Amino acid sequence: MVLRSQIAGTGSFLPERIVTNDDMSKIVDTSDQWIQERTGIQSRRFVGPTDTTSSMGIAAAKNALEAAEMPAEDIDLIVCATTTPDLTFPATATIIQAELGIHSGAAFDVQAVCSGFVYALATADNFVKAGQANNVLVIGSESFSKILDFTDRSTCVLFGDGAGAVVLKATETPGEKSDQGIFSTHIYSDGRYRHNLYVDGGVSTDQRTGYVKMNGQEVFRHAVENMSRAVQTALDTNGFHIDEVNWFVPHQANRRILTAVSRRLKLPHERVISTVDHHANTSAASIPLALDESVRAGKIKSGDLLALEAMGGGFTWGSAIVRM
Ligand code: ACO
Repeated sequence: MVLRSQIAGTGSFLPERIVTNDDMSKIVDTSDQWIQERTGIQSRRFVGPTDTTSSMGIAAAKNALEAAEMPAEDIDLIVCATTTPDLTFPATATIIQAELGIHSGAAFDVQAVCSGFVYALATADNFVKAGQANNVLVIGSESFSKILDFTDRSTCVLFGDGAGAVVLKATETPGEKSDQGIFSTHIYSDGRYRHNLYVDGGVSTDQRTGYVKMNGQEVFRHAVENMSRAVQTALDTNGFHIDEVNWFVPHQANRRILTAVSRRLKLPHERVISTVDHHANTSAASIPLALDESVRAGKIKSGDLLALEAMGGGFTWGSAIVRM
């Protein structure tokens, strides 16, 4: 028997405010046509005055706990992936922990920008496999609009806000290919490329929060290469063929990246989950948001094999193979 982290429930939260491409064209010199052609994005959500990264994370976590039919006090670990925490410290995960009424176990944040959810999932899964956690909340929550430069049309049109969460439950399984749970996670980084995507502010440099800066073409090139390779490694590790994957749940960076990666992997577009048109790029929240939306829509079902992948600033990237 092997110990696996099973996804017991998923949840998500989107702020109310919908911002269309036409709305963005009133802020910067852009158009609905340019944004749709280059990215597939039609609209995004932006946080309102009462939304915070923790409040969205709490709402997503509550939905996931409800779906898992698990009381909050059974959670013994919270890992929150975010690049836009409420405060410099304490970790947003501890704010979420307190608001959920959990007073034991551990809670911490993981910072890997758009790869954050895959990093958080890998961290949580390793705690489960090591026998150090039984029931884990893995959350991705971002108020990314707070770090956008609304005078830079090449970045501000790409991102959105929101949160997603999954509940992981440690379960003994026979170790078969048909078992539910996380089969593997692979995470990578290469800091030599950090100048292609970063925020130009920070605590130890100038005490400003700063704004997103990006070399879009370099990001694009590395994203396609790194994510395709990470998924292929994940499949090979577990002896799965791409044809066995029911759903590809990629980080929702933009439609052209999604299409290029799925083409390389020879995955038909009918098996690619795409929410980038109405979520835009929500960084660490994008995978759990897409996952929860697809589960609730009845698209992703129990027993389906999923391939997850992400890439973000650092560069960081990674993949996971999961059976629901
Ligand atoms: N509206 C209109 N024109 C624009 C806009 C805009 N919003 N943004 C840039 N342009 C203009 C540029 O100024 C440039 O004009 P010029 O030719 O007069 O100088 C022209 O469009 C072409 O600019 P490029 O940067 O060459 O456009 P490109 O085809 O590379 O598309 C894009 C830009 C969409 C950012 C692309 O590079 C991309 O998708 N990169 C990946 C970035 C990404 O997804 N980042 C997310 C974070 S990382 C991750 O999640 C994986």
